[in-house]
Formats: sequence, structure tokens, C-alpha cells
Amino acid sequence: MKFADRRFGNPASSQSYVVRVLVLTGAGVSAESGIPTFRGKAGYWRHIDPTKLATPEAFARDPQLVWDWYRERRQGIRNARPNAAHAAIARLAQCTDDFLLVTQNVDDLHARAGVAAEKMVKIHGDIFVTRCSHSEFCRRDYDQEHEHEHEVRIPTCSKCGAFMRPGVVWFGEQLPRNELERVEKFLDSGACDVVIVAGTTATFGYIIDWALRGSRDGGKLIEVNPEETPLSRFATRLVREPAAIALPPIVDELVGSRSSIL
Ligand code: OAD
Ligand code: ZN
Repeated sequence: MKFADRRFGNPASSQSYVVRVLVLTGAGVSAESGIPTFRGKAGYWRHIDPTKLATPEAFARDPQLVWDWYRERRQGIRNARPNAAHAAIARLAQCTDDFLLVTQNVDDLHARAGVAAEKMVKIHGDIFVTRCSHSEFCRRDYDQEHEHEHEVRIPTCSKCGAFMRPGVVWFGEQLPRNELERVEKFLDSGACDVVIVAGTTATFGYIIDWALRGSRDGGKLIEVNPEETPLSRFATRLVREPAAIALPPIVDELVGSRSSIL
């Protein structure tokens, strides 16, 4: 099949062809759902820089403080709703044959907007998971009731007694092996027609690396971010708008017309 013959479409229909899309998201995509980003003044919590709380050192020094921060964030996320950016990405996932979303967000808004688990990699973990800091034991703490029980103290592991910690990746920690392998497998199995990078400062080298590897062979690299990032100079298209405004028309364009994207 020639590249120009490919198109987006409903995978269930006989008209759909293989189109590969990679989407990389960060905190900016959830900003319009009222969830603060990490960097920038708005991200500060009790006058503390969040990038100083999301560390193993902060947890070792003051686990109660770190838990207070995560509990407050969990509550904020439970109360939040997916926005138009999450909805647009979910639509794109449905209309693309070969799709992967790699999100750095630990919230569940992409899932609630309808992106299936097998099309999404949560590379920095899941805020609703509570896991032992020593053993493999972990559980999912989505229920408000459950959360309430532990509200004022640091949860401990029922297997080994050690402190439990949020199931997220902190600075200086390894990325989860399984999730990493899923990203590598997707990238190894072919170049993408389109890579969209939305709402991330692209601070981490692996985000830049994945965006560039995904768009090798002439794929489009679209950045959606009101501000410049280290990835901007590589983008084939820069959209300096909030994600909830920018993404719906971009997805319409990608899904609706073969000539505009390919
Ligand atoms: P940041 O807080 O670093 O960056 C948010 C980005 O979103 C910035 O580039 C903003 O310009 C942009 N932004 C803000 N509002 C936006 C909007 N409405 N629409 C689109 N973009 C908007 O968040 P991340 O890049 O996700 O990791 O941070 C990466 C990682 O660093 C996080 O996953 C977390 C953090 O420390 C760990 O905890 C390991
Ligand atoms: Zn344990």
C-alpha cells in the first residue's frame, strides 16, 4: 500500500487503512480540567515546589507531607472531569488503526475520556495505586471510603509493615519496565504518520527521543503548547494554544481528511 493511500477512518469500516499515530501528553492536557501543572507558580502547593515533593528523598524525610500532597491531588482528580483535549485524543484513538498514547499524567482523565488501557501507557504510574516501599505489594485506592480510613496517617503494608507510597514514578527513579517495553515495541514496529506532543515541558530526554523516533521517516510532529519547549525546534507544526482549544480541530482535520495529513 502506498503511503498516500492510507487514511484515518473507523477501524470497523472496510475503508480504514493502517495509520500509525503516537500521542505524548503531559500535565498541560489536564490543566483545563483544573489540575495544576508541575512547573510554574500555579503548580505550587503550600508554597512548596512540587518537583521537590515528587522525590524519594522527600518521602524519606517527611512521608506525611508527601502523602498529604498526594491525597489532596487524588481528591482534586476525583472531582475533575476530562476536558475537550482528553475527548479529542480518545476520538483519535478510536479512529486510528495503530495508536499509542504515552502519558506522563498520573491522573485517570484519559481513561475516563475513553482511551482503552491497551492503547495507553502511563509512563509515570497511577496516582490511585498505593504500593509498598519495600515489597511488591500494591493495591488500588480509588474509593473515597478507603482513602478516608487512612486520611491522617501514613498507610503501612499489610504484608511487611513498611510504609506504603503512591504508585507513581519519582525523580531519579526507573521507569516501569513493562510500560517502557510497550513504548519501545510500538516505536520498533514502524514509523508514525503523525506524532502529537501536547501539554508537556518535555523536560525528560525520553519524551524528546520518543517524539523524534516516532516521526522519523517524514512523519508529522505536532506540538500543542502555549509555550516553547526543547521539542519546539523539531516540530513540523507548532500550535501555541491551550490543548482543549487546539486538539479538537486538529483531530477533526486528521480524522476527516486524507489529503490534509498525508
Ligand atoms: P509540566 O508542569 O512540567 O509542564 C506543563 C506544560 O504544559 C508546560 O509546558 C506548559 O506550557 C503547558 N501547558 C500549560 N497549560 C496548558 C494548556 N492548557 N494546554 C496545553 N499545554 C499547557 O508538566 P509535564 O511536562 O507533564 O513527573 O511534567 C513532566 C513530569 O515532571 C511529570 O509527569 C512529573 C513532573 O515532575 C514525575 O513526577 C516523575
Ligand atoms: Zn510490603
